[in-house]
Amino acid sequence: MAVTVKSAKETELMREAGRLLEIVHDEMAKMIRPGISTMDINEYGDKVIRELGCVPNFLNYSGYPASICVSVNEEVVHGIPRRDHILKEGDIVSLDAGLIYKGYHSDAARTHAVGQIDPKVQKLLDVTKQSFFEGIKMARAGNHLFDISNAIDSYVTPFGYGIVQDLVGHGIGTSLHEDPQIPNFRQKRRGIKLVPGMTLAVEPMINMGTWEVEWLDDGWTVISADHSVSAHYENTILITDGEPEILTLHV
Ligand code: MF3
Ligand code: CO
Repeated sequence: MAVTVKSAKETELMREAGRLLEIVHDEMAKMIRPGISTMDINEYGDKVIRELGCVPNFLNYSGYPASICVSVNEEVVHGIPRRDHILKEGDIVSLDAGLIYKGYHSDAARTHAVGQIDPKVQKLLDVTKQSFFEGIKMARAGNHLFDISNAIDSYVTPFGYGIVQDLVGHGIGTSLHEDPQIPNFRQKRRGIKLVPGMTLAVEPMINMGTWEVEWLDDGWTVISADHSVSAHYENTILITDGEPEILTLHV
């Protein structure tokens, strides 16, 4: 499928899809504490999405059985919420959520600390989040797609962390996943030229240890191969004539 360039009208719908998803994330963030289950987060996230008049796009996507991906500690992404998975002090939890507003998709992820966490783990969270911002500095019309990938890699690699390679960011619009794929690690080619109106989900996934991952028998949950903790940070962005617009984050 070709990379889509959104019209002004479509861009407005993408903006609204993004703004509403930010509300969902802000709401879920407030409930993070020891003692809640990963299913509690899924149920609340699903409720907020629907109250906003939107539809959760992850639910039933290729058979995914929940509305929110909730990935704890060594789980990288696509953790399936469970009633019996209770968060405890010192955990980290990655929440990945998306919604559809008037046919347009948004997608964003945040990793949260549960209570007090090891400063070394906090560093991983900080670096993962900052790597997104380093990457999107390159997300400008006229630059090439893999300038984003290379910027993320250049920032993260000196910390000695593992950049996940088996999963990548993606275009987004009237589908959750559109072309192009957006790797978070160094590329030998330049990739497509960026054009105003492209909407992209940029989502570095960074492991404390090895970059290698494995899939659990549930067919969904991705974990780090060495069971080291893993962080995820994602926003949906819009390529403009100037700086990229972050559709799922307004500071
Ligand atoms: N944010 C993820 C992605 O972009 C989550 C989607 S997986 C799903 O691919 F199956 F749960 F939808
Ligand atoms: Co995504």
